[in-house]
Amino acid sequence: MRHLIDPMDLSVEEIDDLLKLANQVIAHPEQYSEVCHGKKLATLFFEPSTRTRLSFEAAMMELGGNVLGFSSADSSSATKGESVHDTVQVVGCYADIIAMRHPKEGAPLLASLKSPVPIINAGDGGHYHPTQTLTDLLTIQREKGKLGNLTIGFCGDLMFGRTVHSLIKALSRYDNIRYILISPPELRIPDYIRVEILEKKNIPYMEVESMEQVISELDILYMTRVQRERFFNEADYVRLKDTYILDTDKLKSAKSDLSILHPLPRVNEISTKVDDDPRACYFRQALNGKYVRMALIMTMLGLIPD
Ligand code: CP
Repeated sequence: MRHLIDPMDLSVEEIDDLLKLANQVIAHPEQYSEVCHGKKLATLFFEPSTRTRLSFEAAMMELGGNVLGFSSADSSSATKGESVHDTVQVVGCYADIIAMRHPKEGAPLLASLKSPVPIINAGDGGHYHPTQTLTDLLTIQREKGKLGNLTIGFCGDLMFGRTVHSLIKALSRYDNIRYILISPPELRIPDYIRVEILEKKNIPYMEVESMEQVISELDILYMTRVQRERFFNEADYVRLKDTYILDTDKLKSAKSDLSILHPLPRVNEISTKVDDDPRACYFRQALNGKYVRMALIMTMLGLIPD
């Protein structure tokens, strides 16, 4: 039995297979509508979510399976002091696979040690979000036609942005990727990514504070939200929350084939006027999340049709 906790739990070949399967689902959804008949997915979300939880649930429903779960810790027995170990051992009696989001880094890993069914990390604190990474990889592949030879700018909260950490880690195995890391000094990428991944693997990167200074160089601009829920004090959040706002003026100097990604939710960091620009990929990206989760569920349950 395999779990998906860290983006590196999947080899490059396995990622290629998942993306290929997701593309097949997009092309012929009707061929997959009964693949998970009789199977159940549990979504255990101890932290808020719109896209991840609902796309997992939609994915399982479109595969002919069923879903159960809770959308906040408040409505579960975690409020009575139940541990994640006990929770997954019990939910594993009711479901065939579990997607878990938790505010504590490492909670899905802990859960996987006792779980009788596969655990998928649906985001653990500021750590990792491997299914968002699969979503991002599918989006980059579909928008750019490749996963290498790209200059990618990550902008915003690079300190606590688990989607950024996961994607940089996963992309570190593809050729000729250059990173431009755009953040205020307080929200720079943590050392476990900068030193342990980028420097150790000799991956070219630069850290800058100004988006305007580098936007013309980018093939992909990956915007992120400054996350109020990760700050220890409100004053720091208020000071930093509007550091970057991508608008139509700033996009004038960007490449005509720039792809703008954002894991969403968005607050102020992308003007809604940008949504009509064909370079804005973030709503297509959210849709890709459902298809890649369909591919992941089938793969983890060993139910890929011939
Ligand atoms: N991208 C993402 O994880 O969104 P949600 O928090 O809405 O699931």
